[in-house]
Amino acid sequence: MGGSISRASFSKGKVKFCSTKSLTGKTVIITGANTGVGFQTALDLARRNGRIILACRNDEKGEVAKSKIIQLTGNTNVIYRQLDLSLMSSVRAFVSVINSEEKAVDILINNAGVVNWEENITAEGVENTFATNYYGPFLLTTLLLELLKKSSDGRIVNVGSIASLAGSVDNDTVMARRKFTRTEYNDSKLALLLFTKELARKITDTGIKVVYIHPGTIRSDLFRNLPWILQFIITCIMRLLTKTPVEGAQPVLFCALDDSVQTGGYYMDCARYDHTMWVPKCVYDEELAKKLWESTERIVTACGER
Ligand SMILES: NC(=O)c1ccc[n+]([C@@H]2O[C@H](COP(=O)([O-])OP(=O)(O)OC[C@H]3O[C@@H](n4cnc5c(N)ncnc54)[C@H](OP(=O)(O)O)[C@@H]3O)[C@@H](O)[C@H]2O)c1
Repeated sequence: MGGSISRASFSKGKVKFCSTKSLTGKTVIITGANTGVGFQTALDLARRNGRIILACRNDEKGEVAKSKIIQLTGNTNVIYRQLDLSLMSSVRAFVSVINSEEKAVDILINNAGVVNWEENITAEGVENTFATNYYGPFLLTTLLLELLKKSSDGRIVNVGSIASLAGSVDNDTVMARRKFTRTEYNDSKLALLLFTKELARKITDTGIKVVYIHPGTIRSDLFRNLPWILQFIITCIMRLLTKTPVEGAQPVLFCALDDSVQTGGYYMDCARYDHTMWVPKCVYDEELAKKLWESTERIVTACGER
């Protein structure tokens, strides 16, 4: 993916990523690409002429997004594939389809995410927020590693959140023994961050870069499962303070495309933020990250046996 010029510019505190990078001959998988940040990211990537796989849970929404992107970009190499990240059986079925295509995967963007207000246990017996935001991306990424290794320039972008700062990954999380506390979003995004760090250590010799990105606070559908009064308050605040999905896609595009991106990094606003006040100190605890990895492997394996 070399031979390109890219630049991140800032205006009124908002960031715009400009790059001439072409994705001709490259395959990108992006989860949750039917709306919000995921849709805008997929749209930009499709304009770069890549083979873009929209991995979405809802057939109708996935097909509509695919048609819109093809219409807006003229790139007919945009594909929809069904994927429900909350179910490990769905992740496995998705990966087996991708494997059967026998093509390298160049960029994987783990973008899909959910905020739940009420406890929601999946058919496989795990909490839905954790399953969607962490177990699903963990399994998807680890199962796609062989195809990412086939790329000359493999990259994994984990779309996390600054909410990880308020998260905790304690022994109960590691042992999947926790009760529903409405902190699942923060905790799952912290788990995703620890996963990013541990994965970067495990795959240093492969050339694949893996990074974590907080895309900013964005006016999207993310808070749709909250009670209406909370949605109302959040919407009012958001009108004043936040970014559009197009703006939220800029740092994700930077992490997916820019040559300067460093593996294992925590990114915000197209810059590296490790060791700043925005990053929880526990992410540098390698023992915790290892324990979490091992317990996650046990959990995703057990999900397949139910
Ligand atoms: N919005 C913010 O302020 C903010 C801040 C920090 C981080 N983020 C992160 O940015 C990412 C994108 O969020 P967004 O703001 O664009 O939210 P969004 O508009 O709600 O989009 C979320 C996407 O995830 C998909 N999704 C949810 N559950 C899924 C599942 N089980 N399997 C597959 N896909 C699933 C949704 O599909 P459906 O349409 O079918 O539900 C949708 O496509 C998320 O990871 C989010 O945590 C957002």
